[in-house]
Amino acid sequence: MTGKTSNQMWGGRFASGPDAIMEEINASIDFDQRLFAQDIAGSLAHAAMLADTGIISAEDRDKITDGLNTIMSEIQSGGFAFSRRLEDIHMNIEARLADLIGPAAGRLHTARSRNDQVALDFRLWVKAQLQQIYAALSRLIEAFLDRAEEHADTVMPGFTHLQTAQPVTFGHHCMAYVEMFGRDRSRTRDALARLDESPLGAAALAGTGFPIDRHQTAKELGFATPTRNSIDTVSDRDFALEFLAVAAICSTHLSRLAEEIVIWSTPQFGFVRLSDSFSTGSSIMPQKKNPDAAELVRAKTGRINGALIALLTVMKGLPLAYSKDMQEDKEQVFDAAETLELALAAMTGMIGDLSVSREAMNRAAGAGFSTATDLADWLVREAGLPFREAHHATGSAVALAEQRGCDLADLPLSDLKSINAAITDDVFSVLTVEASVASRTSFGGTAPDKVREQIAWWRTNL
Ligand code: ARG
Repeated sequence: MTGKTSNQMWGGRFASGPDAIMEEINASIDFDQRLFAQDIAGSLAHAAMLADTGIISAEDRDKITDGLNTIMSEIQSGGFAFSRRLEDIHMNIEARLADLIGPAAGRLHTARSRNDQVALDFRLWVKAQLQQIYAALSRLIEAFLDRAEEHADTVMPGFTHLQTAQPVTFGHHCMAYVEMFGRDRSRTRDALARLDESPLGAAALAGTGFPIDRHQTAKELGFATPTRNSIDTVSDRDFALEFLAVAAICSTHLSRLAEEIVIWSTPQFGFVRLSDSFSTGSSIMPQKKNPDAAELVRAKTGRINGALIALLTVMKGLPLAYSKDMQEDKEQVFDAAETLELALAAMTGMIGDLSVSREAMNRAAGAGFSTATDLADWLVREAGLPFREAHHATGSAVALAEQRGCDLADLPLSDLKSINAAITDDVFSVLTVEASVASRTSFGGTAPDKVREQIAWWRTNL
């Protein structure tokens, strides 16, 4: 289909068709054909409502319904010829409907505009996607819960500034990610609740004079209620922005985790080993096992965050109501959705089958004077020192151990007594990493029993 004949949908006012470049910049069918199922569902609900309210005849509704169902199978079977000339999915379907059923097709667009139509289609698509992400997050959380249970008392170093801080358990560390992905999951739920309003019937922007029933179509399409303001309805893309914000935050969490996996799997750390299924080799260095999947999960955050910024930027200067700028919403969301789903699946796979080195973690947990805080706490508890003084005394003990080239627990009692006379043999019982983690029994703390409580909470609240 080339040549400049005017558009069959609005040709009345036009003497000629668009320039080829105009067609290229204007057409969205290459990407919005993904909305075909939502578009058809919206049209079926609209046609049924138009007939129920007496706006079209039952006979026309039946023709429209049959035609739309035919188009649905044509698209599903790959037998539908999409045309750029017809711009977008809405007009491609409507034109095909006219081929199939004749003039009755022209009645479908009564009391509707592409502006409320596209808002509806896209909302339905984003809704389904949020539900899928919710499920994918649940799977990732499950994978973490299993690892956390397995490693509720595997001791590892906890870090701040990536410097050894205090011993924690690997189970506790896993549960930190459960909290993060749990918040992502609850953000998808929030976004779904706000999205739950049907745009259909807002028409171009002002509503319509036809006696439509927006409550009927809202219900039919699975929305809680119709939107309240027709101007806002056709100019609002908050649901897409929220989707991208949810995706960007989640992807940022995935990226932090990916970064840890990259660090942990180095020979220097050796905390984890990735399975062969989630790593690659080097074409030149035979010893290498590279964490490519983790690196790519980390990198894909750039695309998803970029999509959020792109759509925020598209929207920021738009006067009410609809502007064609808004057609730029879809590719960003489609790409971010696909990317996030892939990243979640890859991470769930990696977490599920990475192997954890208890020895390497335990060894590292004891290095770097990680139980210094335990010594200070002992001085507060057993010798009645104010914490600041205990902190100072412990600092001296660390300096001494550093001088002697040994761990705190290896300092002879006489050395410790020279720092504070109140120190007794009993202090050694708190200087092991196992004693250190077992002592952190505050709510949310790293003691294995507390970690098991966190796991149990999530198992019942997931
Ligand atoms: N393809 C358009 C989009 O994605 C559909 C809405 C067009 N509306 C209009 N008034 N031109 O936004």
